[in-house]
Amino acid sequence: MKILAIVGSPRPKGNTNYLVDQALKEAAARGLETEKIILTQYRVNPCDGHEKCASFSACKHDDDVPMILDKFINADGIILGSPVYYYNMTAQMKAFVDRNYFLYTHGIPKKMFCAGLIIIGGGAGLEHAFRALRRFVKLSKNIPDDRIVTLMGYASKPGEVKNDQALVEEARKLGGRMADILSSAQSPKSV
Ligand SMILES: Cc1cc2nc3c(=O)[nH]c(=O)nc-3n(C[C@H](O)[C@H](O)[C@H](O)COP(=O)(O)O)c2cc1C
Repeated sequence: MKILAIVGSPRPKGNTNYLVDQALKEAAARGLETEKIILTQYRVNPCDGHEKCASFSACKHDDDVPMILDKFINADGIILGSPVYYYNMTAQMKAFVDRNYFLYTHGIPKKMFCAGLIIIGGGAGLEHAFRALRRFVKLSKNIPDDRIVTLMGYASKPGEVKNDQALVEEARKLGGRMADILSSAQSPKSV
């Protein structure tokens, strides 16, 4: 079973990326295959909104999103990690979320059993970002509440979160909880 993590922070040495690594390390220690995509290392264009996805066999954008979506739909669990920017997810993460519209219009089946949400902010608006991401995995990926594991916490300077032992431990637990869910998962769901 595999967990794919998508990181929406533009700071590779930032807090979100560090916590995502902790979660993945724990999941790997529990025997899961893991992979991480840092969105800023790829070409992720925003959706054009032409609403004609269904009439095309491939998205019209010539960027890296089709490759990322392919990994996404083949993962058993996903982690979405985003800092809070103006009370929401980052633009990088939102661009990726919007590009899932192609999968939606094509009714592409998913086999995701669980999701981990890692949301880090400097002071306010974490709940808003959380609600937006939870809605995405719940409605768009059909993952029920009891299979969505969440970590929300505060940090500002890059890497500051390393000194917050409670958050680091929570990130590891998130990876462990996802491993528990995946080990008890029965059969792939299609929607
Ligand atoms: C453009 C921008 C907007 C931000 N907006 C918020 C915000 O609305 N609420 C908040 O708590 N933190 C906000 N922050 C702070 C970041 O969420 C915080 O620094 C976080 O640790 C960044 O995560 P990273 O280290 O993983 O990149 C903002 C930072 C930037 C650069």
